[in-house]
Amino acid sequence: METSDEKLVIAMPKGRIFNESLQLFRQAGYPVSEEMMEGSRKLIVEVPEESLSFLLVKPMDVPTYVEHGVADLGVAGKDVLMEENREVYEILDLKISACRISVAGMSDWKPVLNPKVATKYPRIADRYFREKGQQVEVVRLNGSVELAPIIGLADRIVDIVSTGRTLQENGLVELEKIASITSRLIANRSSYRLKSGWMDRLCERLDGLVNGRGNVV
Ligand code: PRP
Repeated sequence: METSDEKLVIAMPKGRIFNESLQLFRQAGYPVSEEMMEGSRKLIVEVPEESLSFLLVKPMDVPTYVEHGVADLGVAGKDVLMEENREVYEILDLKISACRISVAGMSDWKPVLNPKVATKYPRIADRYFREKGQQVEVVRLNGSVELAPIIGLADRIVDIVSTGRTLQENGLVELEKIASITSRLIANRSSYRLKSGWMDRLCERLDGLVNGRGNVV
């Protein structure tokens, strides 16, 4: 499936990295409308002046829209890319929403045989412990993962740590860092060829902004 030749379609992640992503496009000179900034319920937002169309989707779904070609580009956290492992090109590190994905446990944790690991990232957790040669049982959750070791659902968690507040306020400590995370601009493989001029211009503007190289608009 391909998007129309007339415009670029960009999948944007709703949620915690949305505002930072939007801000970046605005700073790069794209007149992103107020309706996107102010919590509207619209899921498709057009920017006709720039022939852009934004799809507002769940962060974990961004690579799916891009892989299937219903979006030419997308903004996705490296955590999502590591978990989803989709056939897309990662074309620019946007250097926003920096955080890390780590293993954490209760401050008084003790090693146990075949520990249970609660996480929203079952593939990342599975791969990490397999590469370390440790056998674990992964318990998949959709959020509030820090609760799991407190109430005995899991011995450890694999989750995003940003400020560290959630861990701290729940009596957990970070044990091992798995990877540093930032948001990336990703592209559909055929759009990248077919709309290369267009994408290059957008990429140049964002790259100039992100890496501080002069004028971006
Ligand atoms: C994320 C993550 C941690 C928290 C980390 O959760 O899963 O729980 O943020 O941030 P901190 O280190 O700044 O406290 P999110 O807010 O996305 O909600 P969730 O628990 O529903 O996934």
